[in-house]
Amino acid sequence: MTTEEILIDKDQLSVWLKEKRPVTVLDIRPLKEREEWLIPGSIHANVYDKLKANDPAAFDGIELPDNQPIVTVCGGGNLSVTAAEKLQDKGYKAFSLQGGMKAWNFAWNTAELKLANAKVIQVRRSSKGCLSYIIGSGSDAIVIDASLDPQVYIDIAKDNGWVIQYVTDTHIHADYLSRTRELAQATNAKHVLIDKASVEYPFVSIKSGEKINIGKATLEVIHTPGHTLESTSFRLGDDAVFTGDTLFVNGVGRPDLKANQDEANEKSKMLFQSLTQLLKLNENTLVLPAHISEAVAFDNKLIGETINNLKNKLDMLKLDESEFINFAMSRIPPTPPNYLTIATLNKQGTYEGYTPADLEAGANRCAIA
Ligand SMILES: [Fe+2]
Repeated sequence: MTTEEILIDKDQLSVWLKEKRPVTVLDIRPLKEREEWLIPGSIHANVYDKLKANDPAAFDGIELPDNQPIVTVCGGGNLSVTAAEKLQDKGYKAFSLQGGMKAWNFAWNTAELKLANAKVIQVRRSSKGCLSYIIGSGSDAIVIDASLDPQVYIDIAKDNGWVIQYVTDTHIHADYLSRTRELAQATNAKHVLIDKASVEYPFVSIKSGEKINIGKATLEVIHTPGHTLESTSFRLGDDAVFTGDTLFVNGVGRPDLKANQDEANEKSKMLFQSLTQLLKLNENTLVLPAHISEAVAFDNKLIGETINNLKNKLDMLKLDESEFINFAMSRIPPTPPNYLTIATLNKQGTYEGYTPADLEAGANRCAIA
């Protein structure tokens, strides 16, 4: 095998996982890096230091399935080539994931929700757990929180007979570079944002309570500040509500980023009030958030919970205002890597000169759970 042939790219591995082909994804990074992000279903071999030292016995004593391909994965796709070569020497059919986790950062899959007057497609960036949405009805569609190359959304819309009429973000993201502006430019869609959004590029301003018509469906704009001051939710009748980073299926949005202690307290209070507002929606409304805190499997299962399930499941939603503020302030996770740069670039609406894979590497940390 040549070096070319030993490589498998992220799209090919995505197809294998989607088609449930038998494959062993073997993560050779140091174990602590897996705590940050990983490929769903992957297993780990503690060989990093040995491979670095070019130890010929790196895989001795490690039993792997020999009846299916093995794809080795590291951070950037270099050491995984060495790993795959060593496994091939042992008789395994081994490949190396080209570009490693940095490339896998852009792997994605989808899940669908079919409604009477609309279809919702949840587009999931598998490793980071970023969830964006295309809501289509008739021949129209809106994209919320685009986090992947515009072509991904354009192709999905085309496959469904939709034209992307609107694009929007639920807030100014700090965990990944929003691709919403690029998507607007690529499609000529209207770039709508809540009037509270403080960004440095032109957009079509929408107010809380305003409605956006998509074919036969209507999205209502709800200002839900707290995670950020401009955070917005979009309600699709009694069927679904797109909550951004305000309400997740396992927690709520962190209120502390870019804030001092007093401001974070104030934002926690706003978050409590926004959550109270969301929890008053019809109890069967499906909450569809902008993130999930673990890697998204290639299982086509929609990530979402009804308002009723969340009320029962999340104890933090049962707290009163002061208890909630204390709870939120005591459970703040470490800040996301590069969040100030990412938030600044998202405000500017351009990331020219930056490499998204470098800025975005690592898990999302927008949640308090
Ligand atoms: Fe966020």
